[in-house]
Amino acid sequence: MYKILDKVELNKDVDLMVIEAPLVAKNTKPGNFVIIRVDNMGERIPLTIVESDANSITIISQKIGYSTKMLGKKNIGDSLEDVVGPLGVPAHIKPVKTLVAVAGGVGAAPLYPQVKAYFDQGTKIDLIIGASNKEHLILIDKFKDIVENIYICTDDGSMGEKGFVTKVLERLLNEKSYELAIAIGPLIMMKNVVNLNKNYKLKTDVSLNPIMIDGTGMCGNCRVSIGGKTFFACVDGPDFPGEEIDFDELMERQKYYKHEEHICNLMLGEKK
Ligand code: NAD
Ligand code: FES
Repeated sequence: MYKILDKVELNKDVDLMVIEAPLVAKNTKPGNFVIIRVDNMGERIPLTIVESDANSITIISQKIGYSTKMLGKKNIGDSLEDVVGPLGVPAHIKPVKTLVAVAGGVGAAPLYPQVKAYFDQGTKIDLIIGASNKEHLILIDKFKDIVENIYICTDDGSMGEKGFVTKVLERLLNEKSYELAIAIGPLIMMKNVVNLNKNYKLKTDVSLNPIMIDGTGMCGNCRVSIGGKTFFACVDGPDFPGEEIDFDELMERQKYYKHEEHICNLMLGEKK
């Protein structure tokens, strides 16, 4: 069993938890994730390891479906059934001097360890961070310590500039040049960031989070088409170069799971 050592509600939909898992923590690299089961009947939940120390890992979870809502009900002192990891291929931190990082909503959580790794090697980083509103912006204070400039935007204008991250990105691309971009957030955001960057001949790394089952490359559920070839996000990713990803196929498949999620929420008695 894996004890919850700390829990912070970042906003009404998103929790940060510190979980005692020394063997996972010891081997963690930026870009790795874990698969969690809340109890012995629980679904498997893949979550990026945001930070780790000698004894624990930090995860951030959006209470969006049945299982993540069950996770959200757990408190400090409670234990989780399984924490399997570290899984996935660690992010390939490239030797670049300048980077523009783009975070969309809860995508800021998987972005943080990568931005930190670039900071640690001396890369100068501009961060664009966007969310639906002020309450849904996360990790701003932590990012402030490791980036040169931070550009905040919200869909409703409640903090920073009003509009999507791509609006700010386009302005920056006209003013400055970067060696690399990383974008993590909703699929549509990553698709639009990749397409915009292509116009400026700027390569973009993204992180994909399709539904995972086994997390070991056996079930095929997390497959993604890149340049006409099939990859599995769990064992080949979750980070990939964005240019040739078939985002439309991924978004089509995500619609199916949104329907499943709706059914689960009805089972939980929510009228959404
Ligand atoms: P959200 O839907 O509120 O969007 C966050 C931001 O993304 C917006 O504020 C906007 O700036 C940008 N965005 C949204 N639509 C856009 C568009 N059409 N064009 C350009 N920019 C756009 O985000 P949320 O509710 O926090 O959801 C986060 C999403 O990120 C979820 O869909 C989740 O599956 C995904 N996610 C991805 C990863 C990953 O590793 N890739 C990890 C966690 C979450
Ligand atoms: Fe089964 Fe990736 S989760 S192949």
